[in-house]
Formats: sequence, C-alpha cells, structure tokens
Amino acid sequence: MSHTLPGLLVVFEGIDGAGKSTQIRRLGLLCEALGLECVSSREPTFGQYGKQLRDSAAHGRLSRAEEHRLLLLDRREHIDTLIRPALMRSAVVLLDRYYYSSIAYQAGPELSAEQIRADNEAFAPAPDLLLILDLPPETGLARIGARGDRPNAFEALATLQHCREVYRSFAGLAYARLIDATADLDQVTAKASAALLRALMTRRLLQVDGNT
Ligand code: TYD
Repeated sequence: MSHTLPGLLVVFEGIDGAGKSTQIRRLGLLCEALGLECVSSREPTFGQYGKQLRDSAAHGRLSRAEEHRLLLLDRREHIDTLIRPALMRSAVVLLDRYYYSSIAYQAGPELSAEQIRADNEAFAPAPDLLLILDLPPETGLARIGARGDRPNAFEALATLQHCREVYRSFAGLAYARLIDATADLDQVTAKASAALLRALMTRRLLQVDGNT
C-alpha cells in the first residue's frame, strides 16, 4: 500500500556488488546539501531478528519459511521504530534492501513469490522510489572479491542470477527505475540523483526553484 506520510521512502535493490551502499552514501549527501533530513538504513537490520538472519547467512541457511518469518518480524520492527517515524518527520529514508529482496531470496518451491509479496504488502509501506541497480552476477562477485569480502551463503552464482531476474521483473512498477550498475559510479549517481530529485518534486519536498 502506498503511504500517506509526508516523507519520501527510497529503496535500493540489487545483488551484492551492485553499489547500493555507495549510492546511498552519495544520495544522502545530496539530501543534506538540499537541507533535507536523511535517514539511511538497511535490511536485515542489526536488531534481534536481523542478527539471526545474518548468522544464518554466515553458517549455512535456515529454511526459506523460517527466513521469511524472521524477515517479517525484522521488517515490522524496522518500520515501527525507524522508517515510519522518519517518514512522519518528513525525512527522506534511503533503504538498502526491502521486501523485494525477500521475493528474490526467499521464494522457492515451498514458499511462493506471491505469498511473500502479500505478507509484506499487508503492512509494509510501498516505496515512493525503487532504484534497481542492475548488473551481471559475475561482475558483482568480482567486485565483492576486489573489496576483500567473501560471498556469504546467499551469494552462489545461480542464486544471484535468479535474484537479478527477480529484481529486473519489478522494473515495470510505476515507482521503479532500472539503472545499469555496470556503468561507472558517477553515471549511476547521476541517474539515481535525477530520479530522487523528480520524486522529491512530485512530493513537494523540493520546489522547482530549488527552495526546500
Ligand atoms: P547484505 O546487503 O549483504 O548485508 P551485509 O553486507 O551487511 O551483510 O544482506 C545480507 C543478505 O541478506 C543478502 O545476501 C541478502 C539477504 N536478504 C534476504 O535473503 N532477504 C531479504 O529480505 C533481505 C532484506 C536480505
């Protein structure tokens, strides 16, 4: 469901190595320069449920159903304690992953994508802007390796290929933008910033003459 709060919810999705955290840092600086309060966060969170999920990624995975259950608890807590209060204060919330990641990573034979989507959309506010940073998994894995990180249990090549396709399938949503994340960082930032500025103007958080 779309929210009616005064702030702006911007979600970044894409496989690991797509550059989500770099772009969030940069768009956060843009918001600050515009005089807007900006709150950056990520899912899974570092709260009690998120921690269980991260541990599961490090030591082999839980069942998809158990991951889904924990993610719903984590997301509810995140929305109640951080996302909704920030949106109520008219802040811009920049989110590194949201329920589109649940559809990408938790759907399987025993848990359908439709079920995951319905369970989330029953309580989670829809974003005002969904930025899908798209790149081939081979490129993502190479970037993870280059920064010295080891892929976790969610990051096998076949899984990432599937996740990429799921993310791309959301590109047709009215609030989504698909961005080629193989381009250099500045080009990606330019596209993401343009989409953010448009969304801010649509929500009247930013006037066309530049006054906020
Ligand atoms: P990640 O962005 O890699 O966080 P960090 O870099 O802090 O470890 O997220 C951890 C993993 O969680 C990621 O590989 C994808 C997975 N994940 C899901 O499986 N379902 C979800 O709904 C979310 C939000 C993340």
